[in-house]
Amino acid sequence: AATLREAADAKGKFIGTAVADHRLSDSRYNNIAANEFNSVTAENVMKWDSIQPSRGSFNFAAGDRLVDFAQANGQQVYGHTLVWHSQLPSWVSNGGFNATELNTIMTTHITEVMNHYEGDVEYWDVVNEVFNEDGTLRQSVFQQTIGQSYIANAFRAADAADPNAKLCINDYNVEGDNAKSDGLYNLVQSLLGQGVPIDCVGLQSHFILDQIPSTLQANMQRFAALGLEVNITELDIRINMPADSAELQRQATQFGNVVSACLAVSACQGVTVWGFGDADSWVPGVFPGQGAACLYDDNYNAKPSYNGVLTALGGT
Ligand code: G3I
Repeated sequence: AATLREAADAKGKFIGTAVADHRLSDSRYNNIAANEFNSVTAENVMKWDSIQPSRGSFNFAAGDRLVDFAQANGQQVYGHTLVWHSQLPSWVSNGGFNATELNTIMTTHITEVMNHYEGDVEYWDVVNEVFNEDGTLRQSVFQQTIGQSYIANAFRAADAADPNAKLCINDYNVEGDNAKSDGLYNLVQSLLGQGVPIDCVGLQSHFILDQIPSTLQANMQRFAALGLEVNITELDIRINMPADSAELQRQATQFGNVVSACLAVSACQGVTVWGFGDADSWVPGVFPGQGAACLYDDNYNAKPSYNGVLTALGGT
């Protein structure tokens, strides 16, 4: 197989990327997104502040562009994200709503968005980043106002809105065995015990070079043993800049190891990278002095990491 998507297709898996809506007009960007990946995730345009910036006014235009792009290129769409404390408009976070009101607002958002995209979006990150690092629940406006039941409520609303979509919980720093992933494990086990419709766990996988958790595959396996799908949803591996060639080679090996961990766990259906070009990555803006976290360099030339992923997928 000559492309990542051909290699992934041959394995029956997906290889995805986050797509930045404003970059699709660049032909180099557009061609790589179309030709190398069989799954796409909106980097920003399906988030709450983008879709429902003020109460009751829904803006689906940018999300629809991604769906059109995916359909034109025979790709699956991985929906990101319905309920998240970030990129949440202030009319929600500072609205002063009581529990009943906020629950209605949350349920309405889930229902409207999922109904709009029903049949076009295979997965939804129903809740995103609900944990603190110690495994307790983050004090988001939803947790503070509604309490922990907001999570079950969100999944039930999602299942009612689109019974065919796969419903996921997604987080970062839960890739290895640690207090946060234990919190996630205990929550999903308890939700399943209550009959809450949850299908999948997303491990974001924003990694640092040489710090990929050694327990990644075992951790994936324990979620799989609960009967859940477990996917890598936002993979990147950042390096202290400037990155030298030895570091780029190690990065290639480590990208390949993450893909191999997914392939070794039958409940892992695929890996999504959080953007493919270093020039577009969120990393330097949030971690000054770090970067080079992706599969292509600033000029969209494939890096060793591209070959690391391709080889792990069985391509050449
Ligand atoms: O849309 C505004 C634009 O109007 C304004 O002019 C511009 C000026 O800064 O900002 C634009 O918003 C930016 C937005 O991306 C869209 O480009 C925000 O400032 C910027 O903070 C935002 O960053 C995104 C970030 O999520 C927000 O938390 C990144 O692109 C996106 O890659 C990142 O993705 C997250 C996942 O959703 C969840 N997991 C972590 C991951 C990385 O942080």
